[in-house]
Amino acid sequence: MKREVANILKRLLPQRLTALRKNCGGRNRNTGLFSANLLQQGISTEQYLQIAGALIFRNGVRKSTHEGRNAPVISSILNRLNLSFRGPVKVLDIGASLGLDATGNLEAIEKHFPIVSYTLGDLYTELLYDPEQKLVFDQDENLLQILFYNHFVNLNFEFKYSFQRIVQCRNRKYTRRIARTYKKVKPIKTQIVKIPLIHPSVGANPKFSAERMDVFNPLKEQYDLIICMNLLQPRYFSGRMVQKGIDNLTSALRPGGALITGVTDRPRIFADGKEITLR
Ligand SMILES: C[S@@+](CC[C@H](N)C(=O)[O-])C[C@H]1O[C@@H](n2cnc3c(N)ncnc32)[C@H](O)[C@@H]1O
Repeated sequence: MKREVANILKRLLPQRLTALRKNCGGRNRNTGLFSANLLQQGISTEQYLQIAGALIFRNGVRKSTHEGRNAPVISSILNRLNLSFRGPVKVLDIGASLGLDATGNLEAIEKHFPIVSYTLGDLYTELLYDPEQKLVFDQDENLLQILFYNHFVNLNFEFKYSFQRIVQCRNRKYTRRIARTYKKVKPIKTQIVKIPLIHPSVGANPKFSAERMDVFNPLKEQYDLIICMNLLQPRYFSGRMVQKGIDNLTSALRPGGALITGVTDRPRIFADGKEITLR
């Protein structure tokens, strides 16, 4: 028993120690991560991922993703799941972020079925940047980031562990003060620059189309395969909301279709109106 506890601690401790240093929002001294830097020409995919990874939205969800994150999982599930479709499949990847992960997912799915369409759905497909005021807003004009001389402030936070709230106490207090100061600020419409959140390499791929959609709102279309990875999880939403998202997505499945959701190392599969356990 003691050894089991020790093993668990050994596995957990480094993660928690890293979490101590992780930026959870609020003040960030690395101005290179201010999201308007996405507009710079010639930034590498790595920089793109880092800048987008520092973005935290009003619902506490991050844009974090990376290439090939879920493809091995999708591939392994499709190898074991006995799906058959009449024709080419219609795929929805929701919470697709920059779409970089979807490139690998598309390749994995194409090994099993021809694809007729691959939609990248996300609640946030672009940002609104006001260069005069150095402010970044989401598509609904909620202020997200403010650039100052030697730092920027993310008005939203995302905590994986509750102890992070305590560690970040001063940062939260500072951010609350800034949020109060900027409470009524809106983007100046004539000078707004739109920052697309789909990575240019993905946007240039004709196999993909991007659409703004909310995992909790009824979808306009039906799909054969829905992928929703690293969004409907307890880190971001209550159990009730996770279930609401799952119910919403399963109701958008065509007959014989499947939903793959959850987190990369704990995927969940829904088909034929029930959750499926693969051996
Ligand atoms: C952590 S990222 C996951 C990205 C990708 N699926 C992956 O696994 O690498 C979560 C994504 O969900 C999006 N998102 C947040 N709330 C959403 C909602 N209510 N409906 C749809 N997408 C949402 C965020 O903008 C972000 O791009």
